[in-house]
Amino acid sequence: MYVIHGGNTIEGKVRVQGAKNTVLPILAAALLLSEPVTLKGCPRISDVYTMLALIEQLGGAWSWRGEILTVDGTGIKNWEVDGLLAQECRASILFMGALLGREKKVRIHRPGGCAIGKRPINIHVEGMKQLGAKVREEEDFIHVSGERMQSGTFHMKFPSVGATQNLILSCVKLPGITKLYNGAREPEVVYLCDFLRKCGAKIQGERTDCIVIQGVKRLKGVSYEIPGDRIVGGTYLTMAAASGGSAQIEHVQLWEIESLLFLLERMGCSIYRNQKSVILYRNPKNRLKSVEQLYTQPFPGFPTDMQSQWMVAAAVARGKSKVCEKIFENRFQIVAPLKQMGANIHVEQDTAIIEGVENLSGCEVWGKDLRGACALMVAGAVAKGTTLVHGQKYIDRGHEDIVRDFKLLGVKVQQTK
Ligand code: EPZ
Repeated sequence: MYVIHGGNTIEGKVRVQGAKNTVLPILAAALLLSEPVTLKGCPRISDVYTMLALIEQLGGAWSWRGEILTVDGTGIKNWEVDGLLAQECRASILFMGALLGREKKVRIHRPGGCAIGKRPINIHVEGMKQLGAKVREEEDFIHVSGERMQSGTFHMKFPSVGATQNLILSCVKLPGITKLYNGAREPEVVYLCDFLRKCGAKIQGERTDCIVIQGVKRLKGVSYEIPGDRIVGGTYLTMAAASGGSAQIEHVQLWEIESLLFLLERMGCSIYRNQKSVILYRNPKNRLKSVEQLYTQPFPGFPTDMQSQWMVAAAVARGKSKVCEKIFENRFQIVAPLKQMGANIHVEQDTAIIEGVENLSGCEVWGKDLRGACALMVAGAVAKGTTLVHGQKYIDRGHEDIVRDFKLLGVKVQQTK
């Protein structure tokens, strides 16, 4: 549990950790390489350790010394992904594409839904079938055999991040030219393509409406630096916006968070940019302005992973805000705890209507998913009084050390057993 004594302005500087959602697909891609890969700046978070445990179970190996994580997928013999471990981390679904690309077959436990939604994988499966894979779906497991896979064309009906990554992984060594239309444009797809190209893959068109992949026989091992985590950085900037004061966030790529920066400026914050860092300042005397209507959208739209954190800022802004969650079907779980803290929010289908209040008051709250639990931490920093936040196991999935970072930003926080 975290104990936060809130109500003070933010003052400080943080260099954000490596990006969770960038490193997870790269760990799956390590299975496609014929040599070990070394990753610099990989975040020490539980989702990464789960993926490493799965790589080990498949026959791979890894070692982590200081900043350098070495992953060796060359010894992979197994093509069945462990069900129990896979349930721990949804990104394990990316082993489907990686093992299809490497072994031409895979047996994987259907990834469970989670607090924010059912999270089906129909688009992943449709794409593989479209390219000739044979898919047998059982109750809990999915068998895919790629013996007959051929290069071709696939139009995604929704730009799913995971489906785009899985299809790229299954095609980088598939002879011929494959075209993926309407793929996701998230930075996590861009970095996966960048990583694979450095390993010798022939991929182009990421961030456009058509990703073109020409299969290659062999992918070599490389050294790769993991970029900063756009959602961790965005969470801290949003906390400074909500609390007032100033935060300097380093090791973040500005192109990845422009939609958030634009929104926070509209709400009355001052933003100062340079190459790889951003400073947000808000005079606590000038209350945040509300946002009439916000939608979460695929990149480059406002990211769903920032929606809960932004709701805290809207909760103390002047006036009425509305946010429509267009990506996941159940991502308003922090409304109830925020109301316990004095927020005035009500939900109508996929829209939350937020009437800003002067202050939130600390109390005991429970997070139910990673970004929701982080948003409650932000609410604790904003609220007058003391807030107890439960949900460490969710926060550990995505944050190396949220207490360290919050303290660097001037928040009075401690963790109790
Ligand atoms: C990735 O999840 C991220 N996870 C999520 O971050 C992020 O919220 C999401 O992309 C959207 O940006 C990782 O990168 C590990 P999707 P993913 O496939 O790939 C529906 C976090 O907190 N859909 O783009 O699962 C799906 O149900 C996590 O770090 C289908 O219907 O996202 C959802 O409503 C949370 N069929 C929407 O699309 C499919 O086959 C977006 O899903 C696939 C997806």
